This record gives sequence, C-alpha cells and structure tokens, in this order.
Amino acid sequence: MDKFLANAGLGSRKEVKQILKKNIVKVNGVIVKDSKAHIDPQQDEVTVRGEKVDYKEYIYLMMNKPAGVISATEDKHDETVIDLLEVNDTILNPFPVGRLDKDTEGLLLLTNDGQLSHQLLSPKKHVPKTYFAVIKGEVTDQDISAFSKGVILDDGYHTKPGELVILKSGIHSDIELTIMEGKFHQVKRMFEAVGKKVIYLKRISMGPLALDETLELGEYRELTEEEVLLLKEYEPKA
Ligand code: URA
Repeated sequence: MDKFLANAGLGSRKEVKQILKKNIVKVNGVIVKDSKAHIDPQQDEVTVRGEKVDYKEYIYLMMNKPAGVISATEDKHDETVIDLLEVNDTILNPFPVGRLDKDTEGLLLLTNDGQLSHQLLSPKKHVPKTYFAVIKGEVTDQDISAFSKGVILDDGYHTKPGELVILKSGIHSDIELTIMEGKFHQVKRMFEAVGKKVIYLKRISMGPLALDETLELGEYRELTEEEVLLLKEYEPKA
C-alpha cells in the first residue's frame, strides 16, 4: 500500500503512512489504513479523498543537462543530475541513461526502466546520437571523409563511421556529428584524432528523441506517451 501510494507520487513512504492514518484512502470502496496491505495495481481501484490514484511503475524524464553536473545518481564532490530533480520525481529512483561528460550539455534521458535503458545503450543496437559542437580550428571536408570511415582514437580503437555536418567553418567551427557508439569522451577524442579540439559540446538527439529546445539548462520534463512509445519501438537502421 505505502509503496503504491509513494510510486503514484503522493509522497515518501513515511509521508504516505500519515495519509493512510487519515482514513481517506479506499481500496475498492473500503477504507484502508494498513501501510502493509497488499494492492494489485491491475485489479484494485485505489482512491484518495475519492480521487482515483493512477499507478505508475516507470518514470521517463528528458533533461537539458547543464555543464557542471555529473551524469550519475550520486557523487561525493559534485552535484548530480538527480540532485536537479524535484523530490517527487526521485521516488521511482530514475537514473541517467548513459553518460554525458561534466562539461557537456543537452539531452539526457532519466528513467527507472532498466530494459529500455539497456536497449538504448547496447552497443549491438547502434542507436544514433547527434551532438552539436563548437570546434577550435577549421573543420574541413577531409574531416567529413575521415569520420565517414571511422577514426583511430588515442587507445588504438577504430571507431565506427560518424556522420559529420559542417554548419559553419572558420577559426571556430560549428558542426553536428552523429555517432552510433558511446565510448568514453568519444566526440572529443574523435576530433583529437584529426588534430582538433572540442570547445563546446551538446547532445541534441538520441535515437528518435530530440532535445526539447524549450527546456532551459537544468530543466526537465516527463516524456509524452508518444515519445516513450517511439523509444520502445525504435529499431535503428542496420
Ligand atoms: N562525447 C564526448 O566526448 N563527451 C560526451 O559527453 C558525449 C560524447
């Protein structure tokens, strides 16, 4: 009972015990006060002050991650993306799907759906991720060609092909890069492999999901049902 109410967003386990004491929670029309009462979310109708409580097992959040926070659930020194969530949104224990570097901004998915997370991160699935970046130095057609064949990183790893689009070339260049992998610091290291430096990095899409540009840095929102479905049904091109 207490887990059901907490998962539905009514408060912490401790807080919902207080709600139960008030005789306002009914299961199938009968008042229930026992926090240990067993609930079948598929069968039982639970109401609080007469309002039906929707059971939620999973939470899916899209965050526009700001620089300076860590993509982890906890950290001894730094603020984490979980610290940016409102308490109610932490009840179902969401975690970040993959990592963005501390100084990287942009699209970060947070969920407690382990299966979906696994599906999106599995190297076998080749889910494309697109980044916008500002590069120190002039990005050229030669770089497009090199990335299209894959480049060799500092540890000898030969990356899969990446699709590089030059938006603006100059002393500082604006680019978009789509990669199918998620090696440690991959975008930065791919540019290092062609002798260039990433000075700003932002993820703008992941599979079928694009960053909602109305989200300010550090803001987040729940995914729509449609977005969740798109993610679950997403089959990357072979
Ligand atoms: N590549 C990087 O170098 N950093 C990120 O945060 C993501 C991709």
